[in-house]
Amino acid sequence: MTTRLYAMCGDITMLETEAIVNAANSSLLGGGGVDGAIHRAAGPELLQECRLLGGCKTGDAKITKGYHLKAKYIIHTVGPVWHGGKSSEPEQLASCYRRSLEIAVASGIDSIAFPCISTGAYGYPAESAAEIAVKTVRQFVAAETPLKEVIFCCFSEQDLQLYQRVLNEPAAK
Ligand code: APR
Repeated sequence: MTTRLYAMCGDITMLETEAIVNAANSSLLGGGGVDGAIHRAAGPELLQECRLLGGCKTGDAKITKGYHLKAKYIIHTVGPVWHGGKSSEPEQLASCYRRSLEIAVASGIDSIAFPCISTGAYGYPAESAAEIAVKTVRQFVAAETPLKEVIFCCFSEQDLQLYQRVLNEPAAK
């Protein structure tokens, strides 16, 4: 089945996809930005479950329940902090998308929404992050997967226009 990819602008904690992805830090114990919004919306049981996970390495991802969110699951991934692009940030960011999708498929999840990982507090330039996000997701879903829908949930009109432009570019050969 072909997987539908699209971008929208809004608060990821309001989405009804089966899973939403959190741009967490390696402690998995909450923070600001989308991490703070997700913990606030999911409620305190989320932190209790996260405490049992033993943290998460950059580029990796771990799954929890969604608790009070509409989404059944949260996939927490830790993006790279931008240090200029020469410390394997692109590969680590791609790995966040790939590992999140692998965990989603392994958990039988068929719809997932991503925030713009690493482009807030972690300072990753939005344009190259969007190109990596779309390229990595396209590569993953090119191989038959049960994923029906992958949403890029932007938090600003600017990011939405960026994703719509990147999604309209023909897939790189
Ligand atoms: N819904 C969707 N996107 C959101 C929301 C929201 N409610 N809140 C923020 N965002 C967007 C930001 O605008 C940005 O585009 O999420 C993107 C990622 O920004 P951050 O949340 O700052 O995440 P990141 O840059 O990956 O930094 C992670 O920040 O919050 C801490 O604990 C987190 O230490 C970790 C670091």
